[in-house]
Amino acid sequence: MAKILVTGSKGQLGSELRDILIHDKSHTIFLTDQEDLDITNRSAVNGFIEENGVEIIINCAAYTAVDNAEDNALLCEKVNRDAPAILASAAKKADALLIHISTDYVFNGLGPLPYREDMRPDPCGVYGRTKAEGEFEVTQSGARHIIIRTSWLYSTYGNNFVKTILRLAKERDSLNVVFDQIGTPTYAANLAKTIMLSTTLPNGIYHYSDEGVCSWYDFAVEIVKLSGSSCKVSPVTSENFPTKAKRPPYSVMDKGKIRKALAIEIPHWRDSLNLFYSKLTEL
Ligand SMILES: NC(=O)c1ccc[n+]([C@@H]2O[C@H](COP(=O)([O-])OP(=O)(O)OC[C@H]3O[C@@H](n4cnc5c(N)ncnc54)[C@H](OP(=O)(O)O)[C@@H]3O)[C@@H](O)[C@H]2O)c1
Repeated sequence: MAKILVTGSKGQLGSELRDILIHDKSHTIFLTDQEDLDITNRSAVNGFIEENGVEIIINCAAYTAVDNAEDNALLCEKVNRDAPAILASAAKKADALLIHISTDYVFNGLGPLPYREDMRPDPCGVYGRTKAEGEFEVTQSGARHIIIRTSWLYSTYGNNFVKTILRLAKERDSLNVVFDQIGTPTYAANLAKTIMLSTTLPNGIYHYSDEGVCSWYDFAVEIVKLSGSSCKVSPVTSENFPTKAKRPPYSVMDKGKIRKALAIEIPHWRDSLNLFYSKLTEL
């Protein structure tokens, strides 16, 4: 029986965790979001953890708007760098475990091979930089910690690439999607399950995404196919699709460490997408 705090519990990942935890009567669960517990507020965080005797903190809260981050560096730093430091310091005081979520965008994406946990972060934009700084704060804090980096997250909750493509496939006859950014999509429900298994792992950084590799174009083709739409998807380069934030061209992560440590089989992104789609259409 553990007392578990989930921050950012109304986001994509937080909602998937909530769906698992509400059926689990073996733990006491505190589901919070910004309006209940602002993780940038040190005294509120310290008070909450102390008063409730929190033993495990799962930090799903983050500033995740990658392009807006370029114009909002201060807020992004507060949420993605300073708040993890606050949570880690509170975890240390309470001898609680902090499970913190990070991103493939801490890498520059110039490497030819999947990124391992021991490779040096070198982010391209404000979002990736602040997430890398948040990781650093957690690892240096002295708190018991597990950092799980994930990539291309989507869920039936919140807004994400899959839902955007599903909407556009209904509205338009054709779509252009970049094919020169390569990574791996992750169904947040799979990550949530993995997080719940990870509490006994040794301190450190772990990579978790679904299996396989694709470009955003490949991913969009598969999404449109699933929807049954006749919308034509065409590949374009990032040069033809300028965005405010630069993104890593190749951010595939090596998941060998977590696969081995937890003895898990990780689903392929196509199977996960099918599962997601059947869940979405049931709703
Ligand atoms: N989304 C992706 O593609 C992706 C990829 C790789 C890694 N990740 C990482 O995975 C984790 C979960 O991402 P997600 O997609 O589930 O994020 P999300 O859907 O954007 O949810 C983040 C949640 O954090 C909340 N939040 C923001 N500032 C807060 C604050 N000061 N105090 C408390 N809560 C606050 C947000 O509330 P408001 O809505 O009110 O702002 C939101 O409910 C994050 O660490 C993210 O960096 C995400």
